[in-house]
Amino acid sequence: MANVIAIANQKGGVGKTTTAINLAGALAEHGLRVLCIDMDAQANLTVGLGINLATVEQSMANVLGEPKARLKDVIIPTGTVNIDIAPATLDLASTEVELMSAIGREYALSEAVDDWAQGRYDYILIDCPPTLGLLTINGLVAANGVIIPVQTQYYALKGLAALVKVIATIRSKLNRNLRVLGLLPTFYDPRTILGREMLEEMRENGENHVFETIIRNAVKLGEAPLTGRPITEYASTSDAAQTYRELAKEVMALG
Ligand SMILES: Nc1ncnc2c1ncn2[C@@H]1O[C@H](COP(=O)(O)OP(=O)(O)OP(=O)(O)O)[C@@H](O)[C@H]1O
Ligand SMILES: [Mg+2]
Repeated sequence: MANVIAIANQKGGVGKTTTAINLAGALAEHGLRVLCIDMDAQANLTVGLGINLATVEQSMANVLGEPKARLKDVIIPTGTVNIDIAPATLDLASTEVELMSAIGREYALSEAVDDWAQGRYDYILIDCPPTLGLLTINGLVAANGVIIPVQTQYYALKGLAALVKVIATIRSKLNRNLRVLGLLPTFYDPRTILGREMLEEMRENGENHVFETIIRNAVKLGEAPLTGRPITEYASTSDAAQTYRELAKEVMALG
C-alpha cells in the first residue's frame, strides 16, 4: 500500500509545491516509485515537473468530475525516473464548483486513489491549493498523512489554527487515518532574528510535530519551476538538495 501524503496550507506561497516536487525527487532517488497529484488549478506542480500544459489531454479535472474517468488514464511519466504526475489544468477550478453539489463530494479523490494506484506507487504526494476548499478537503480525505509547510515569517502561524481545526474535523468525521506528519519550516533565513524566533515559537508552543529539517531561503529553489525537475537532479550537490534528502529520510522514518 502506498503512503499517501497531502501537502497543505491555505496560505499561499509557503512552499507546498516546491516541497512536493523536491520531496518526490529525494524519495525517487531511493528507488521509490512516486506519484505526484496536482490538486491546484494553477498547475504549478504539473509545470514544475516539466509537463507542457498544452499537451495535457486528461487531468485531475476529469478524474474528479467524471464518474468514468480513472486516475490511471491521466497519469503521465515525468522527465525524472520514478516520478509520475497526475496533472492539473485550469479546468480544475470549475470542477471544484461542480463537485460542490455532488454526493460524496469529499471522497472523490480518495475513491480515485484506487487499489491499482496503491499498489503501483510507494508514495503518493498530493499538492493542495492555497484554500481550505473542497479540493484541499479531498486531498486530506485521501491521505494518511499531511505535511504543513510554514513560512518562518511574521503572521505565518496565524492561519494555522484554522487548518488544524479542519484536519481535526476531517479526522473525526471523514478520515480517521489522517495524521499530521509535521510542520515544515520554509523560507528560513538564519540571519534574521525573526526567523529564529518563529522557529522557536513553532517548536515550543505547537501541539504538532515540527520536522528537524528546515528549508532555507535558497535562490536555487526559486529557479526550480524553470527546470522542470527536482533540485535533487538539477543541482544535485546543492545544500537545498541535501536538505530535501534529509526531509525524505524523516518522512521515510515516520513510516
Ligand atoms: N526555500 C525557498 N527559497 C526560495 N524560493 C522558494 C523557496 N521555496 C519556494 N520558493 C519559491 O517561492 C514561490 C512559492 O513557492 P511554492 O509555489 O512552492 O509555494 P506554494 O505554497 O505551493 O504556493 P501556492 O499557495 O500558490 O500554491 C515559488 O516561486 C518558489 O519557486
Ligand atoms: Mg502550490
